[in-house]
Amino acid sequence: MFKKTYDWIDERLNITPIWRDVADHDVPAHVNPANKMSAFVYCFGGLTFLIIVTQILSGMFLAMYYVPDIVNAYRSVQYITDEVLLGNIVRGMHFWGASLVIIMMFLHMLRVFFTGAYKAPRELNWVVGVLIFFVVMAFGFTGYLLPWDQKAYWATAVGAQIAETVPFVGPYIKTLLIGGDILGALTLTRFFAIHVFFLPAALLGLLGLHFIMIRKSGIAGPL
Ligand code: HEM
Repeated sequence: MFKKTYDWIDERLNITPIWRDVADHDVPAHVNPANKMSAFVYCFGGLTFLIIVTQILSGMFLAMYYVPDIVNAYRSVQYITDEVLLGNIVRGMHFWGASLVIIMMFLHMLRVFFTGAYKAPRELNWVVGVLIFFVVMAFGFTGYLLPWDQKAYWATAVGAQIAETVPFVGPYIKTLLIGGDILGALTLTRFFAIHVFFLPAALLGLLGLHFIMIRKSGIAGPL
């Protein structure tokens, strides 16, 4: 039954070469921990990606209950934690995953840096990596406000004040960031939109580029 359906789709869309290309691609010997234990450092990029996937999935479930307005945001987060089936687990995964992804990304960057993998012909991929780094940081900053509790509010207020100290353009950056003069309803909707629409789109696009470039140049050799 499955084979028949697969063959029917494959005849029309020719999908076999697409997944074969990925499935038949050999893992280079020097990045395989089965050959040499220290090669596990080459798994950090893949592990970062795994956490990103769990962040996206847990975030999608949180978005089913979260209400991005200043009257209901706090209560909706409490509702997720206390009332929704497995809500505290999903929220916990998203909360701890947010820190873990930054730690893993740093370890991955350190591996790339100390093995010199940022050098030619992979400089462009390092630049894409730096953009990914800023996007992941922005996820953390915008997500922190969403529970709309005291800690969230004042942390964002401090962040906005720091942005304001940028010479000449600081006040404009602050206004753009919080959507007006004070941190309030417009800030929350703005941060929510950035967190769930703008940043995921940017991240998926950049990761696509990152992976295409890795396939083009292969993973850098050992030192
Ligand atoms: C969400 C964040 C990221 C993910 C999921 C990710 C994923 C990956 C993966 C799976 C690889 C293949 C080799 C490996 O796993 O080590 C890789 C390679 C690479 N990454 Fe990342 N990466 C991320 C962030 C970054 C950042 C922040 C930088 C640098 C600023 C960076 C620079 C590079 C470079 C230059 C390579 C090629 C290294 C080589 O060929 O040995 N990446 N990345």
